[in-house]
Amino acid sequence: MRSRLAGSFIALDITLISLELDVFGHVLAAIEGKKVGRCNDAFTSPLAGVRMQKGSNQIANDEALVPHAPVNCVGAYAPIVGADPRRPFVVAQIGQSLDGRIATRTGESRWINRDAALDHLHRLRALVDAVVVGVGTIVADDPMLNVRRVAGRHPARVVIDPRGRIPPQMRFHADDGVRRIVIRDARNTVSPCAGVETIAVNGVDNRLCPRQIVDALFERGLKRLLIEGGARTISQFIDADAVDRLHVLVAPVIIGSGKIGLDLEPIDSLSAAKRPDTHAYVLDGGEVLFDCNMREGGRDDA
Ligand SMILES: NC(=O)c1ccc[n+]([C@@H]2O[C@H](COP(=O)([O-])OP(=O)(O)OC[C@H]3O[C@@H](n4cnc5c(N)ncnc54)[C@H](OP(=O)(O)O)[C@@H]3O)[C@@H](O)[C@H]2O)c1
Repeated sequence: MRSRLAGSFIALDITLISLELDVFGHVLAAIEGKKVGRCNDAFTSPLAGVRMQKGSNQIANDEALVPHAPVNCVGAYAPIVGADPRRPFVVAQIGQSLDGRIATRTGESRWINRDAALDHLHRLRALVDAVVVGVGTIVADDPMLNVRRVAGRHPARVVIDPRGRIPPQMRFHADDGVRRIVIRDARNTVSPCAGVETIAVNGVDNRLCPRQIVDALFERGLKRLLIEGGARTISQFIDADAVDRLHVLVAPVIIGSGKIGLDLEPIDSLSAAKRPDTHAYVLDGGEVLFDCNMREGGRDDA
């Protein structure tokens, strides 16, 4: 990975260089280890804690950037912490069963994934500027979308609600000091609740372009985004090539029926399937995190 910072090119070479552990082996302070070439100017990342010393050849970290991450998973957070602040960065996460379901047929999705995967989700929330969900998830789950299981700041909450059907009593609207944004179709004139920002996007065939959504949020200072669900929303972002990393958390449970996970534009040949560069991390409880680099790997026929 190469990154232009303060007018000089720096070769970034991701390796593990330092970890500060507590007695349980959890990471207290570490940035998944970025080893860098020499740089000419001091550099401070917008993500608090990443600091590069003038003339040094490594990044120093001032505080816990990936709080209490299991040692074997720290690498999964590297691309988020180290994302180039001059362009949007999008990570999507989906939790599913062994048979690829994200919810029962009645829509129940809690708790397909258990503690380790939930901790991971909260860690992701703590590392991004905004968490984005489709209105279907708000209606089904009424999620709080904040950071509770690990230390860290709450991200802004964003819902894609083209037709203005989010009920006003949903926890999304809670006036808790966190920025709340509704993305709506420009043709929809429904007024938002007090204190909630709106972004109007021109829809085509009732679809709002995910890339336009990402760009609009970036313009408003929300650079790192977590697309948290549901499956329809994530699928549309993937189809639009608007996802940098996809985290698939597979729980050792078989549901056997119900809502399927990703549902992308159909292909006829396996050669057209996406094969992202992927790293698997085994979490406590037998859950597995697949960290897919959607910018590397490509298709078989590419
Ligand atoms: N396992 C997990 O990781 C996980 C995570 C989150 C949610 N869930 C589960 O997933 C289910 C909900 O997921 P879902 O797929 O049904 O719904 P969803 O993705 O949460 O929301 C889909 C709706 O959001 C709007 N939307 C999203 N992106 C849009 C775009 N680009 N353009 C226009 N509209 C867009 C549309 O609203 P309109 O319908 O108004 O047009 C769309 O129908 C629930 O059962 C929930 O429990 C599971």
